[in-house]
Amino acid sequence: MKTKQFTAIDLDQAAALLRQGALIAFPTETVYGLGANALDEAAVKQVYVVKGRPSDNPLIVHVSDFEMVKQYVTDFPAHTKALVESFWPGPLTLIFEVKPQTFSTTVTGGLKTVAFRMPNNQKTIELIKAAGVPIVGPSANTSGKPSPTTAQHVYHDLHGKIAGILDDGPTQIGVESTVLDLTAKDGIPVILRPGAVTKERLEQVVGQILVDQHLISEKEAPKAPGMKYKHYAPDVPVWIVDGDQETFRKAIESAKSKNQRIGLFADDRVIEIFSDEVEAVFSFGEESVDQATKLLFAGLRNLDEQSIDVIFAQAFPEVDLGIAYMNRLKKAANQKILKIDSIFE
Ligand code: TXA
Ligand code: MG
Repeated sequence: MKTKQFTAIDLDQAAALLRQGALIAFPTETVYGLGANALDEAAVKQVYVVKGRPSDNPLIVHVSDFEMVKQYVTDFPAHTKALVESFWPGPLTLIFEVKPQTFSTTVTGGLKTVAFRMPNNQKTIELIKAAGVPIVGPSANTSGKPSPTTAQHVYHDLHGKIAGILDDGPTQIGVESTVLDLTAKDGIPVILRPGAVTKERLEQVVGQILVDQHLISEKEAPKAPGMKYKHYAPDVPVWIVDGDQETFRKAIESAKSKNQRIGLFADDRVIEIFSDEVEAVFSFGEESVDQATKLLFAGLRNLDEQSIDVIFAQAFPEVDLGIAYMNRLKKAANQKILKIDSIFE
């Protein structure tokens, strides 16, 4: 990727800017967030403007500890304590019923609920403490583009539109937090967005967990408003390649026969075999879903800047973290998947 220069700000500057109503980007373990004081409605409105985000899509409120949440929520569902103790700080967002007259409808998207998360990033925890207020934090990308996993990605999308970036290097996980709704009448928590805190890990703590039907069938309307939007998509069309070496070979041959220039997002082994036959490559290293997830958005952004007509991206089995990886990749690919039998149909 072209390296662009930006001036990073330090923690005290970032906290002061937040208190003044300015917008800054902050690091988390998942992706970079676009921060504003959650109690300052004008600042929160600006978040939507800067991202080009639809106003019915509510924001996650980031806190430095669970104590902070207690000012905005009166009734905590039974599983709250166990979930917070097991997964905070970490990539788990919890949705509660919001105490009336606390957050503006700009934060909640007009819902009766609000989403909270305590990110696992020391700089950002200190930032929230120094600012003394909770901060909203959607991913710091232009709406619809892949989420930013480096400060450079933030700069690319939001340069000139925000007051500064608190840089802490590349993020560790690479996809956004798991969103878990705790407000169902029957008390059973529901996953609205898959992330690094998997269904299996949640079940170990609270027993039964449901998954929003939208994540299983595209026909159902999602409960997390953000999940209905096309997301994470580069401009170059993406196809998921679900299969072995032979599937990649057929996909590449088929694209070449249409004179398409190809970019590959795959592991070292696949890249080594096909690098001479394609125009651009981005390797995520060894064949590991953790590595692929960590570098997915960086890879899509990098390939999107090359002169290519199509991106072929490697699939992973939809288990554990593979569920979150495939959820984001399917959105980027607009659900287009190549399997060995389907290529010449
Ligand atoms: O990892 C993350 O969660 C990152 C980092 C920066 O913390 N943030 C992030 O925020 O991904 P954002 O705004 O891009 O995604 C928030 C998701 C959206 O799908 C939104 O619709 C959903 O959470 N959400 C927020 N509040 C909600 C609510 N009250 N009810 C249902 N869904 C909600
Ligand atoms: Mg986002």
